[in-house]
Amino acid sequence: MRAYKLLISEEKIASKVDDLARRIASGMGGSTTILVGLLTGSVVFLSDLMRRLNHHGMSPQIDFMIISSYKDSTDSPGEIEIVQNVRIDVKGKTVLLVDDIIDTGRTMSAARRLLYEKGASSVVICAFLDKPSRRKADIKPDYYGFAIDDQFVVGYGLDADNRYRGLPFIATLEE
Ligand code: IMP
Ligand code: MG
Repeated sequence: MRAYKLLISEEKIASKVDDLARRIASGMGGSTTILVGLLTGSVVFLSDLMRRLNHHGMSPQIDFMIISSYKDSTDSPGEIEIVQNVRIDVKGKTVLLVDDIIDTGRTMSAARRLLYEKGASSVVICAFLDKPSRRKADIKPDYYGFAIDDQFVVGYGLDADNRYRGLPFIATLEE
């Protein structure tokens, strides 16, 4: 394991997730909602969020999508591959689309387009972290936990080469 530096603690994460769930439940509680997570990064956030949503009176159906975005070193528009689309019927439904982080926004943007193609009536975007300075696609989260600077972070579902996802806090990796 490389050395890492704590950026957002477990305690801050827990209170933020509860706060997000409360706001989401009061903002969308009335609509029939399907929660769609983007694998793999969203799993830790999603599993906390769905339990806090339940606590605040919202108990949505859950499904997942897998979208791979290939980034090259120049950061030019990478290929987006749809590995797995949603399986629940989203026609006429409000979808809460959840990911760990919005970076360039291309992944969320592609996922949202796919959900509208499947007939979703509205797609609400929720990301645990937001890196607004890196945005390339026209997308803004309706709900987010923390906005961060342009730095590479791991933990709470976020990985570096598929490691560190299980860290219970957000950290930056030391060189
Ligand atoms: P986007 O399509 O550029 O918005 O990329 C979003 C995806 O890139 C996220 O779902 C993450 O998997 C990954 N990603 C972006 N920034 C980070 C980071 O700082 N740490 C780990 N993964 C990241
Ligand atoms: Mg991801």
